[in-house]
Amino acid sequence: MILLKSSREIAKMEVANRIVAEILAEVREHIRPGVETRELDEVAEQGCRRRQVKPAFKGYRGYPASLCVSVNEEVVHGIPGSRIIKAGDLVSLDFGVLADGYYGDAAVTVPVGEVTPEARLLLQATEESLYAAIDQVKPGERLSNLSHATQKVVEGYGFAVIRQFVGHGIGRSLHEDPQLPNFGPPGRGPVLKVGMTLAIEPMTSAGSWEVLILPDGWTAVTADGSLAAHFEHSVAVTEKGALILSKI
Ligand code: MF3
Ligand code: CO
Repeated sequence: MILLKSSREIAKMEVANRIVAEILAEVREHIRPGVETRELDEVAEQGCRRRQVKPAFKGYRGYPASLCVSVNEEVVHGIPGSRIIKAGDLVSLDFGVLADGYYGDAAVTVPVGEVTPEARLLLQATEESLYAAIDQVKPGERLSNLSHATQKVVEGYGFAVIRQFVGHGIGRSLHEDPQLPNFGPPGRGPVLKVGMTLAIEPMTSAGSWEVLILPDGWTAVTADGSLAAHFEHSVAVTEKGALILSKI
């Protein structure tokens, strides 16, 4: 069931998502060669404590950290730990909070120093595909138009869309209906209505779309070891189109 939010609820979601965006920006500042990914988790934790909000991912289905840090071939759900960031890496940060009863969720992939031309293009394609999906948000349109727009951009660059993970509704729960795949034909799925709130999150690979889960039970890596990227915004459907909630 897709839960529509009132403008009062959307205002709260805007607060939660702005906090997510602020903390992601703080974490991003700490990315440099030599940093362990667990230090980035500490920055996110501290950001939550300072604002007295709850990290959304910690304990979610047993996830052990506040932040997901996925490096290079890691697509999503990388557990922060002793991995050391080096120049040339692509670091995906995925983060959420619970604030005043509502969730925020966003992700960004950050290049560390000089990265390869392929890596730069992958970032460009993935971020562009997120905005292409956001551009499709309008009351009366069908949900799969977002999926199709994402796929078209990513594959237009010669890259692949990860199929095993999807975007989602968000609100009083981190994951609500509907599921939002990042590929598929247009014109399908539920009709968008004012008050729907969606986390749109294209995940891409420079090679094959197939992923494996590491023995830690969480980290998803590309099956062929190719580079991956992930960008995510939470948005609300308004009369005028998408309101991006997770923007600074
Ligand atoms: N942005 C991801 C999602 O919406 C983050 C979930 S990570 C988890 O699914 F650790 F909480 F599972
Ligand atoms: Co999400």
